[in-house]
Amino acid sequence: KETKDQLIIDAGQKHFGATTCKSCGMIYAASNPEDELQHVQHHHRFVEGIKYTGWKKERVVAEFWDGKIVLVLPRDPSYAIRKVEDVQELVDNELGFQQVVPKYPNKTKTLLFISDEKKVVGCLIAEPIKQAFRVLSEPTGPETPSSKECQRAWQCSDVPEPAVCGISRIWVFRLKRRKRIARRLVDTLRNCFMFGCFLSTNEIAFSDPTPDGKLFATKYCNT
Ligand code: ACO
Ligand code: ZN
Repeated sequence: KETKDQLIIDAGQKHFGATTCKSCGMIYAASNPEDELQHVQHHHRFVEGIKYTGWKKERVVAEFWDGKIVLVLPRDPSYAIRKVEDVQELVDNELGFQQVVPKYPNKTKTLLFISDEKKVVGCLIAEPIKQAFRVLSEPTGPETPSSKECQRAWQCSDVPEPAVCGISRIWVFRLKRRKRIARRLVDTLRNCFMFGCFLSTNEIAFSDPTPDGKLFATKYCNT
């Protein structure tokens, strides 16, 4: 009997290691049905995007020729919160973040960019903060390692600076990038984060930026 158990365990281990999907980039354990299901779901969303069919009560905060921006607040109906959670799951999988618990803290503000094809093509999640640490500009020169090598280890100043609004996630559907969707999301956020004022770029901070995020933020804050 013991030998049999042992055999089963060994057989299972063959499939243990993690697999990386070549198209959606998700790392998952193919032998784990739960993981596999999660991958299938992420894969589909990554390829197709997330649908948005419209809500009875939606807060449209900006309109453009190619879409609109909808604001979702913590006390909104559960269908709205669920949509934000779906988008955040897609974004976090794409950024390689582990899902962080309390999913929708009560001061969070989320902006969704909805395309004319009724899909969520952009998302910005923001929360109030009191201070931020400036990312120091990298030394440039022939000896500097390529930015790929130092991926996300930006050096930060240790002097806190006052800030008002922290952007914890900014993401644009991969087929819709470089169409100023992120720029329009941040512009809209600056206008609707605090009632009655337009935040300056000094009052907003990007948390833990990716290389894409850093390029965008640098460009955005200088223009
Ligand atoms: N490389 C170089 N410059 C860039 C890039 C890039 N990848 N992305 C934006 N910029 C600069 C450009 O100057 C651009 O203007 P241009 O197109 O006229 O030259 C300007 O920023 C404005 O760009 P947008 O078109 O508004 O940006 P986009 O809608 O493409 O979204 C984003 C940028 C959100 C970073 C997108 O690339 C993305 O979703 N990436 C994957 C997710 C990610 O890494 N998000 C940031 C995580 S950090 C955080 O969430 C705090
Ligand atoms: Zn996949």
